[in-house]
Amino acid sequence: MKRILIWALIGIFGGTALMSGKGTAADGRSLYNDKCSLCHGVRGDGKGPAGPTLSPPATDFTNPSYWQKTNDTKIADAVNNGVGAMPAFDLNPGEIKSIINYMRTFKK
Ligand code: HEC
Repeated sequence: MKRILIWALIGIFGGTALMSGKGTAADGRSLYNDKCSLCHGVRGDGKGPAGPTLSPPATDFTNPSYWQKTNDTKIADAVNNGVGAMPAFDLNPGEIKSIINYMRTFKK
């Protein structure tokens, strides 16, 4: 019982840390895996279970040329408004920032 309480508290404080918008890649990883990996893949290569079935397919974040033509504003815009087959997501700026930090670790 005590153990369950401790996990509940970790959950609450962990969630608060995320909302404060620290934007670390570690927060971004769980958000990304939760919301983006279905299409963009856990490795960011666009090969998630649903990614290649879409037209155009989900963007490959490992491709260096993708990073040459994008920036934080464009990425946030895609997340907030959706693009092509990708739906819009209701995420706050701190959450988006941490996802972007994590996405940058995919770049080859
Ligand atoms: C349902 C599948 C799906 C999910 C889930 C998804 N995406 Fe996408 N995403 C796509 C597809 C498909 C494209 C390519 C759209 C196009 O080029 O028309 C795309 C493109 C993008 C782009 C490139 C936009 C551009 O500038 O062309 C970014 C950035 C992006 N996604 C970020 C994310 C992030 C971050 C998440 C999670 C919060 C996410 N996506 C979740 C399908 C998805």
